[in-house]
Amino acid sequence: MNEVKTILAFDTSCDDTSVSLVRGETILVNVIASQVELHKKFGGVFPTVAKQAHLENIEPSLLLALKRTGLTLEDVDAVAVTVGPGLAPSLEIGLTFAKNLAKKLKKPFIAVNHIEGHLLSPLAKRQTRKIIEAKASKKTHQKKVKFPVLGLVISGGHSDFVLIKNFGEYVRLGFTIDDAAGECLDKIGRMIGLGYPAGPVIEEFAKLGDAKKYEFPLPMTESRDYNLSFSGMKTFARNLISKIEQEAQEQGKIGLDKQTIYDLCASAQYGVFRHIMHKLDKILAKENIKEIWLGGGVAANQTLRKLLRFKANQHGLVFKAPYSKKLCADNAAMIGVVAAKKLERGEVIIGPRAIAKVDRQPRWHVGEELK
Ligand code: KG4
Ligand code: ZN
Repeated sequence: MNEVKTILAFDTSCDDTSVSLVRGETILVNVIASQVELHKKFGGVFPTVAKQAHLENIEPSLLLALKRTGLTLEDVDAVAVTVGPGLAPSLEIGLTFAKNLAKKLKKPFIAVNHIEGHLLSPLAKRQTRKIIEAKASKKTHQKKVKFPVLGLVISGGHSDFVLIKNFGEYVRLGFTIDDAAGECLDKIGRMIGLGYPAGPVIEEFAKLGDAKKYEFPLPMTESRDYNLSFSGMKTFARNLISKIEQEAQEQGKIGLDKQTIYDLCASAQYGVFRHIMHKLDKILAKENIKEIWLGGGVAANQTLRKLLRFKANQHGLVFKAPYSKKLCADNAAMIGVVAAKKLERGEVIIGPRAIAKVDRQPRWHVGEELK
């Protein structure tokens, strides 16, 4: 049996600088240098600020990853990096750094799609004693995946339904035609004054509120496709909040009271998830799906996980989601997991000239060939 290869992976697609070392699906380390504090004042990610921070953080993050594992660059068998989709200035930093490193180390280079990373993130495993022992006795601890899998990537930048026919074989079934689900929650949160990103706060406040208090519209019920749209919910929230504020003013009060904020959070979260579940029902009725996987920042939300687990159970399907919040957010470990599959299939780029030609692809859809 072949020795499992050690992959060094990078992700600088948006506002987090991440470096990871993986062996197959096993994560040795997953360093994330978050820029959330830097972007808070902008209420979103500011590309030039992100680029500068990636530039400053990438080498220290690599050194930290090596230190935490006790490995050196000599132990690395391949270098992987997110090539797209993402913010062009951010992608450039990780890509240039990884290309130079692969050339210097004379190791294969693996170009990874960020969305494929989120899609396979539920497969990532902690390095537990059981895994180490299974590897030593050359037993496989991995349960076989039953394809086709339906992958949901629900984040601040994306809301995609992807049919995973096999590793490396993807068909985008549906996507958001405007805002992403996380973006919608962040924008509504901003209207209520919750700061950025608002998703995690909305989850907490929703627990104290009434999800049926305000009925958010269910978009695109007539359309036959599997696409999503969240911009109408944002507009609904804006109008609703001004109406509530006006009514409060007429009663001599200022702003929104606590319970109203909790009810708004619960209702908005319910509205966003109801739309996703409605389209999911359509997919499950038509497509032959065996497993449901969830990835992306919003995958950290326990209510969404519960809804999906329940739905999967109803249909007799397996449900998988990442084992930690870190793996839901943008991170390099998920890029390493994809790279390990690509390495097994021989999808690597070798030699300085071929590596130099790889360019960032800010709009690279999963399932499309690398240009
Ligand atoms: O994947 P991610 O880190 O970055 C993107 O690629 O977008 O996702 C961040 C998004 C933000 O919109 C954030 O509000 C949302 O994920 N998010 C959550 C939760 N944690 C993060 N949304 C709802 N509930 C959460 N617990
Ligand atoms: Zn992402």
